[in-house]
Amino acid sequence: MIPSKSFLLPIALIIGLCGILIEARSRNESRCYQFTWLGPRWHNESVFMNATCRDATQLASGVPCQQPLVVSDDGTWPDVEYIWTHYADQATCVLADNDVCAQYTMFFNGRVDNSTYFCTRAVDSNNTAITNGCYEETHGSRSTRVCFCRSVPGTIPYYRTTAQMNTVKVVVKNVPDYGASRERNDLGYLTFDLKTDLSNLFNWNVKQLFLYLTAEYVTPNNELNQVVLWDKIILRGENALLDFKNMNTKYYFWDDGNGLKGHNNVTLSLSWNIIPNAGLLPNIPAIGQHSFKFPVDYTQTRV
Ligand SMILES: *[C@@H]1O[C@H](CO)[C@@H](O)[C@H](O)[C@H]1NC(C)=O
Ligand SMILES: *[C@@H]1O[C@H](CO)[C@@H](O)[C@H](O)[C@H]1NC(C)=O
Ligand SMILES: *[C@@H]1O[C@H](CO)[C@@H](O)[C@H](O)[C@H]1NC(C)=O
Ligand SMILES: *[C@@H]1O[C@H](CO)[C@@H](O)[C@H](O)[C@H]1NC(C)=O
Ligand SMILES: *[C@@H]1O[C@H](CO)[C@@H](O)[C@H](O)[C@H]1NC(C)=O
Ligand SMILES: *[C@@H]1O[C@H](CO)[C@@H](O)[C@H](O)[C@H]1NC(C)=O
Repeated sequence: MIPSKSFLLPIALIIGLCGILIEARSRNESRCYQFTWLGPRWHNESVFMNATCRDATQLASGVPCQQPLVVSDDGTWPDVEYIWTHYADQATCVLADNDVCAQYTMFFNGRVDNSTYFCTRAVDSNNTAITNGCYEETHGSRSTRVCFCRSVPGTIPYYRTTAQMNTVKVVVKNVPDYGASRERNDLGYLTFDLKTDLSNLFNWNVKQLFLYLTAEYVTPNNELNQVVLWDKIILRGENALLDFKNMNTKYYFWDDGNGLKGHNNVTLSLSWNIIPNAGLLPNIPAIGQHSFKFPVDYTQTRV
């Protein structure tokens, strides 16, 4: 058993003392994580002895488990970068050509119980290979979510979080933009739904997330326009399971000309910055976008 942050448990200390030879891995070999995080009920002061998958699952069938078993110091999600750096040999698998990285997470009443990472072959009901995406299943209070991805050779396996978004109301006005010039520019208004679960991003090293929703579109004036419409800070310990309905944007959606009216492909996407306690500040996009159209006529009514 290895804790995900530091070795504080007797058995983990043994692993630590043995020394871990991290060989130079070939640049073009893809790897996935392979371990089970036992979940938030366990932390560095739990008593484990030499727990194995057999103990953890009590041999229940259909319950995935992969050794090594991982616990984090404080019961939060494991810091996968730490595992990659320190335990890549024990806690990753080599991805075969047609296989995918899988993450199988079990929830009770919407809260995570545990999560297992492994290499596998996955097909959908048509027997077509699955290469990415998430699938959820709920039975009463229990639910499971399985996510698949393929990792890039030579890099840290990267399980992207999905987000579902949708626009509810979309209108466009043509109004003078006094901030910029006297000309009349397009101003878009929209309301949106957003659903995503970011709780697995909060490992011990994550202090807060800075989330933002952007709209991207191409116009004759500009190759690519990018407008931030909404943002939110989620602090550690706050609810990171978001399910917003019919939300207003926080910021104005100005075009610097008349590029919004009748535009038929504006893409919404969600990204975040992880604000860590220490280290880098990565910028990550979610999987899942939403493309929408603006009406071909300006609205005259107040919005
Ligand atoms: C890397 O990939 C190339 C071509 O796909 C292959 O010939 C080579 O043996 C691979 N190298 C290693 C170390 O796996
Ligand atoms: C754990 O396993 C090690 C080696 O397999 C053994 O020496 C030790 O006695 C075990 N500890 C417990 C508490 O079972
Ligand atoms: C994960 O949690 C489920 C309950 O949600 C439990 O049945 C299963 O045994 C647990 N798996 C492990 C590896 O602890
Ligand atoms: C467990 O981790 C917490 C927070 O990281 C730390 O304050 C505490 O001293 C640790 N306990 C043990 C027994 O190592
Ligand atoms: C399976 O194939 C049918 C017909 O081609 C298609 O409608 C359906 O969406 C496919 N199912 C999956 C899970 O891809
Ligand atoms: C919509 O725009 C995005 C970029 O903003 C582009 O990637 C995508 O291919 C476009 N879709 C269509 C149907 O034109």
